[in-house]
Parts: sequence; structure tokens; C-alpha cells
Amino acid sequence: MERIYDDFTLIRKEAVGGPSLFDADTAEEVFRFHRSIPNYHMTDLYSLKQTARRYKVDSILIKDESTRFGLKAFKGLGGSYCMYRILCEKLGLDPLKNDFNTFLREDIRRSCAKIEFVTATDGNHGKGVSWAAKLFGCQAHVYMPKGTVEARRKAIEDAGNAKATVLDLNYDDTVRYAAGLAKEKGWILIQDTSWEGYEEIPKRIIEGYLTMAAEIGRQTKKRPTHIFLQAGVGSMAGGIESCFWERSSPFVTIVEAKEAACIYESVRIDDGMPHSILGDPITIMAGLNCGTPCEIVWPVLRDCSSAYCACDDSVTKRGMKAYAHPIGDDPRIISGESGAVTYGLLLAILEDEELRRIFRIDEDSIILLINTEGDTDPEGYEAVLNEE
Ligand SMILES: Cc1ncc(COP(=O)(O)O)c(C=O)c1O
Repeated sequence: MERIYDDFTLIRKEAVGGPSLFDADTAEEVFRFHRSIPNYHMTDLYSLKQTARRYKVDSILIKDESTRFGLKAFKGLGGSYCMYRILCEKLGLDPLKNDFNTFLREDIRRSCAKIEFVTATDGNHGKGVSWAAKLFGCQAHVYMPKGTVEARRKAIEDAGNAKATVLDLNYDDTVRYAAGLAKEKGWILIQDTSWEGYEEIPKRIIEGYLTMAAEIGRQTKKRPTHIFLQAGVGSMAGGIESCFWERSSPFVTIVEAKEAACIYESVRIDDGMPHSILGDPITIMAGLNCGTPCEIVWPVLRDCSSAYCACDDSVTKRGMKAYAHPIGDDPRIISGESGAVTYGLLLAILEDEELRRIFRIDEDSIILLINTEGDTDPEGYEAVLNEE
């Protein structure tokens, strides 16, 4: 079942279809909220026409989240929508009848100023929470695992209303620490992964990501035959996968950092349950460096995906460089460590006849990727681009 290649490993299986957890109607509702935020704009959906021609496929579509809300990553979609839902509930507002404009009212802002959120993050989620806290006029406390680079910590504070602190703990333990503080201090835990008894908030965060699907639906009439989705805990991948599976049944590949490939490992163990990777994984793909799958989306990831890949850092480095130096007049895309791994992997597949067969790629394939982040760590990004 497992195949080993130079810089990635692969598990291929037939998707059986799973629960429809997130649908197009929800995506439309979330999109309605996001559109009401000042300075909202739809992120680009690029078609890499020259690249598609070279590799003899119909289309390669890239949803480019590197410009989302000025945060350089998609994650603010989840934090902002979830915070909106929490605040609506606290303030007795109907979330379906209001939008961000309600939160410009003086009385509402006075109430929001007393509310404090807490979260753990490897970077982008925390930045989204900090930004959303400022948007709504609340406060946030953000905790980060050991090894976090200073640029990522500072970017969180600069993005909005948060105090960001790096702990001497791995990611999963940082999540537990934040959860403990929430109990102790009465702060609201706004975490982008779920566990037993903690489902409502991560579900709202995942719903927030669906704006990407709503936008893609407006940006192209083409239905992707193949979708490559990078995963940390798998919340984003599972949410988007669920939304697309409702409409058609694309060939979905879940792509992870090899050292933290908890979804891959869970599929490999094959007892139907999610499993954690223990220890302190090291990878440049900071956003994917999570050791425990999100329980809400696990059934979707398990049952709707056709392939799982665990990639070395070299795969994402290739993707970062290829996005930065496109073929012909294809657009140049700035893609960071966690954003480019799907593209590096796709290029490796497209160049190999056997892999093309395994992934069922041919001249009619419409391939969708999400560039989930830009140069969130500018120094790291430059270092990779300047490597030989
Ligand atoms: C840039 C980027 N891409 C992908 C992901 C993976 O998202 P998830 O943890 O929902 O799988 C993250 C998570 O932080 C991220 O920051």
C-alpha cells in the first residue's frame, strides 16, 4: 500500500465517500460575512496555462491566499468567522441576520472590549486571531511552540490585538497549555483543531475557510478533477474536501510534512482511527508541523481522499522556487514553506509517467491547488530561493 520515492512517500487507496460535513450553502453564508469586512477582496485564482501545456493537462488552477486580508495566509478566514459566531452568541445577535457592520456600533464595541481570547498556533492561525481581535475590538493571547522564529511571533503582535509568547513546548503541548489557561482565566479558547468535547469552535473555524470554495465557484466554471491539499491537523483540507465532494468526486490528495504526517500515519495504521505523531518534529513547513489530526474532519480525510503523501522539505523548496520562477508568462506567485508543498509534489508527479497513472492524471485533468501562504517568514523565504 505504501510506496517510497526519493523525497516523498505515498499511500494510494480508493475513496469511498464520506459524510457531507460542510456544504455549499454554509460556504455562501460564510462568504456573506467575509464580504462585509472592510478591505475584503477576493484572492486570485490563477491558471498556469503554460505549465499546463508543458505537462499536457487541461488546467492547473492556483487559489492564491498570499494576499488574504494583508495577513499573507488563508487562516484569518477561520479566526474571523469563528470570532464573529462566538461574539454573536455572547451578545445575543442572530449571526444569519447580522454581519460585520453590526460590530461598528459603539455599544457593541464596548461589550467586545471586555472579551479575551486565547489560542495556540504555529503562526498563521495566531496571526488571524490577533487580526480578528483587533477587528472586533477584543483582546487575544497567543502561545507558540518552541522553535518558532521571531519574525512569526512579532508578525502576530503586529497584525492586531494580541500578546504572543513562545513556550518551550511542542505544538500539541502548547495547545494543552492554552486550553488550561482558558479554564483558569476565563478566556475563550479559539483553537483550530478539535478533540472530544471541543468541537463547536473548531467547526466554526473550518466553516470560515469555506469562503475559499465560495470564491473559487465564482472564479471558474471548471470542476476540478484533482485537488491537492496540504494538511497540518487537516482542518482546512477536510473542510474544502467536504465542500468539493458534495458537488463532484474529485481525486483528492492530502499532503503533509513527512516528520509530522499524522493523517498519513493514521491511514497507514488503517484501524479507522486518527493517530498522533509524538515528539518534536522538525520541518521548515511550520504551518504543517502538527502531530494530531482534527477529529471533526478525520472521517472526510479518511474516506474521501484517494492519496496521501508525506513530503520532505525538499519538495516544498522545489514548489517555492517553481512558483517564483514560472514558465513563460505564467504569473509569479509568492509561496511560503507551507504553501508550496503541493506544487512541488505536483511537479514531481507530472514528470513521471508511472506517477501520472497512479494519480489518474491525463490531458483532461483540471488540477486545483491552494497556495495557503506567502512569505510569512521573509528571511526563510529568501534563503530558500537563494539556495543552489
Ligand atoms: C500556511 C498554512 N497552510 C496549511 C495549514 C494547514 O492547515 P490545517 O492545520 O488546518 O491542516 C496551515 C496551518 O496552520 C498553514 O498555516
